[in-house]
Amino acid sequence: MTTATSETNRRLGSAPDPALLDDAERLDLDELRALQLERLQWTLRHAYENVPHYRRAFDEAGVHPDDCTDLSDLARFPTTSKADLRENYPFGMFAVPQDQVRRVHASSGTTGRPTVVGYTEKDIDTWATVMARSIRAAGGRPGDKLHNAYGYGLFTGGLGAHYGAEKLGCTVIPVSGGMTPRQVQLIRDFEPRIIMVTPSYMLTVIDEFEKQGVDPRDSSLEIGIFGAEPWTEQMRLEMEERAGIHAVDIYGLSEVMGPGVAQECVETKDGLHVWEDHFYPEVIDPITGEVLPDGEKGELVFTSLTKEAMPVIRYRTRDLTRLLPGTARPGMRRMEKITGRTDDMIILRGVNLFPTQIEEIVLRTPGLSPHFALELITKGRMDHLICRIEARPDCPPERREAAAAEVAKGVKDTVGTSIEVLVVDPETLARSVGKLQRLVDHRNRV
Ligand code: DLL
Repeated sequence: MTTATSETNRRLGSAPDPALLDDAERLDLDELRALQLERLQWTLRHAYENVPHYRRAFDEAGVHPDDCTDLSDLARFPTTSKADLRENYPFGMFAVPQDQVRRVHASSGTTGRPTVVGYTEKDIDTWATVMARSIRAAGGRPGDKLHNAYGYGLFTGGLGAHYGAEKLGCTVIPVSGGMTPRQVQLIRDFEPRIIMVTPSYMLTVIDEFEKQGVDPRDSSLEIGIFGAEPWTEQMRLEMEERAGIHAVDIYGLSEVMGPGVAQECVETKDGLHVWEDHFYPEVIDPITGEVLPDGEKGELVFTSLTKEAMPVIRYRTRDLTRLLPGTARPGMRRMEKITGRTDDMIILRGVNLFPTQIEEIVLRTPGLSPHFALELITKGRMDHLICRIEARPDCPPERREAAAAEVAKGVKDTVGTSIEVLVVDPETLARSVGKLQRLVDHRNRV
């Protein structure tokens, strides 16, 4: 259970008020599946007729939009990857003439060209609708003040959250990321109820409150909507306890829309409901590409159902999760909190390891802060992982070595591999204002 204030709990209630749900959230399963099929058939035709890449890919796979007479037929269509988007840089995946594209965004991409995405006026409205639904599911209500610290610009976080919050009827404080002391000042002066920000930057904001001698639990904040990077249940506890808020997870990716593809409901905090009336999820085996039954873990794949400017067919997200039945929104399936991406996976001497596994261990080890960084190097001829973790300011120096040993043992016991753990002084590791890059790879490549 959370430690947020009883006042917050009283306002949120334990179950969603049916009057607050929109029409799509009230559909029963048959109605939803029928709507999805109709929208899927439109999307496949729209992509095939207007995007040369899809026409070629469908033809090569020997499938035609007319072959889709049931949702299960989608599995016969080819998947789309980030490489396909890069090859069609910048606008080759667009399915409408440029004068109908109202906005573009791009994902930064650590290597190579960014991936560019586009939106028609209707797409922007759809996005605001699913974002508004997300903020409402997180406990936000019309009239709430919302501090938006997601980055504004080509990144979808800032503007995506912004228009959704306005659509819900919130007062948006469009702060963007960075200038941490000012973030705290604005929260203290403007008294928002909701904050939207990456979880790693929220930790920095919480630290800043404490540095200014202010208890973040005394702030006006009641709800934090955190996403754009993986974070664990331990991180939820850390933020809820230190800031006295409800911490809920929001998921999305620019290729599919931006934030607001799936959202955790505050009353259950049990994974993220996928807004299936607009985004059709599948989970596949990342190696064979075979569709896995609900409940089995694999790579998440999305097909947009209503997007006009840039429909995506079976887009491989590289995110690892599984699909579960709906709870707080019974009609829509949930995705389990993401543990990592296929490309975040560290293969260390034959053992697979995700940064989130280390995060869980670090956060339950007394004396250690949540700020840690991973470095991969070559030692001898072996891969070697160094994990540097900041001590908490109140951690006695003599505790550090024991804490490091506990983390190393925790990793050995749960993951089965040895890593080197160093506990360093507080405030010595780099902070990020947006998405956090946990791992640097300094291995010698031959
Ligand atoms: O990160 C969109 C977003 C903005 C989502 C703000 C939530 C909040 P991209 O920059 O395209 O879009 O990055 C998408 O970020 O494939 C995941 O790997 C990761 N990601 C996003 N949300 C979560 C989350 C935005 N809640 C990529 N948990 C995705 C774990 C997440 N990973």
